[in-house]
Amino acid sequence: MENQKRLDEFQAKIDAGIKIEPKDWMPDKYRQTLVRQMSQHAHSEVIGMQPEANWLTRAPSLRAKKILMAKIQDEGGHGLYLYCAAETLGVSRDQYIQWLHEGKSKYASVFNYPSPTWADMGAIGWLVDGAAIVNQVSLQRTSYGPYARAMVRICKEESFHQRQGYEIMAEMAKGTPEQKEMAQEALNRWWWPSLMMFGPHDKESSNSGQSMKWGIKLESNDDLRQQFIDKTIPQVELIGLEVPDKNAKLMPNGSYKTSDIDWDEFWNVIKGNGPCNSQRLKHHKKAHDDGAWVRAAAEAYGKKQMELVD
Ligand code: 3HC
Repeated sequence: MENQKRLDEFQAKIDAGIKIEPKDWMPDKYRQTLVRQMSQHAHSEVIGMQPEANWLTRAPSLRAKKILMAKIQDEGGHGLYLYCAAETLGVSRDQYIQWLHEGKSKYASVFNYPSPTWADMGAIGWLVDGAAIVNQVSLQRTSYGPYARAMVRICKEESFHQRQGYEIMAEMAKGTPEQKEMAQEALNRWWWPSLMMFGPHDKESSNSGQSMKWGIKLESNDDLRQQFIDKTIPQVELIGLEVPDKNAKLMPNGSYKTSDIDWDEFWNVIKGNGPCNSQRLKHHKKAHDDGAWVRAAAEAYGKKQMELVD
């Protein structure tokens, strides 16, 4: 049984800002929360490659294609840093992937929406990566060392992603009326799903209380969402697009009051009923199966190298 003294010492370490490292003692619930959150985060990075990969072969210029390809590769890399960091909790990558394929592990709801036009590439970079940064800047200070360190590098790359998306949207917004309309429609499509990324309202967030006490989460879902809204609405106005929420209103404290989110839609997508849930998972399983020979070859090569060293 985890005795109170150990728990108190653990909490004192967290309160003093000392990072928890893989070999340190930690309560089971702390480990389980990280296993859930970090694997969910890793899966999100990798599944998140799919809506953008949809446009790789149809990018409007070589420059746009190179940038998009680099961005998608970065996301794959983020998944790898996060799987490595999550493996330090004693769960193998194979197990994490198996949980994803069995539907036992979630990934960010936002990636279950389609990307029908090139403007979606702009909206995803600007809004989805923009929302991810707000959350991840905060997570750079998370209490688990390997997670915090992975976040530092990921944040640097995400800020480039956010800017490339905004550049696409700004260009389209000052293009032909058709291009501007396409940009507006993509903004309308991704606005609400991006706000949902931060998770349910604080009062509905089952994990926040304990996660904040343990320094896994530093800021609440609603506080982070508000930071994103306050940062993004002026960016919408700057490029001459319309905020998709007609009730958005600047308050005297400098913050925007907005309409409430359609939480039924959020929970429905999380339950697997979003427009692309089954497509995303099916594609991931196929890519994983198709890659089996690469993993086998890498493992065999590694074994051979070890034999040579011995
Ligand atoms: N998508 C899917 N599930 C979500 C979710 C979302 N956007 N938001 C919350 N949930 C789930 C939670 O996992 C939890 O599930 P449970 O039933 O298994 O406990 C439930 O809804 C209740 O939510 P909580 O607020 O209690 O959950 P958390 O305390 O874990 O907070 C979170 C949710 C803020 C997303 C937190 O997990 C977090 O900060 N995660 C790390 C960041 C992350 O995963 N980002 C994903 C995007 S990464 C990305 O976008 C890639 C980039 O390159 C664009």
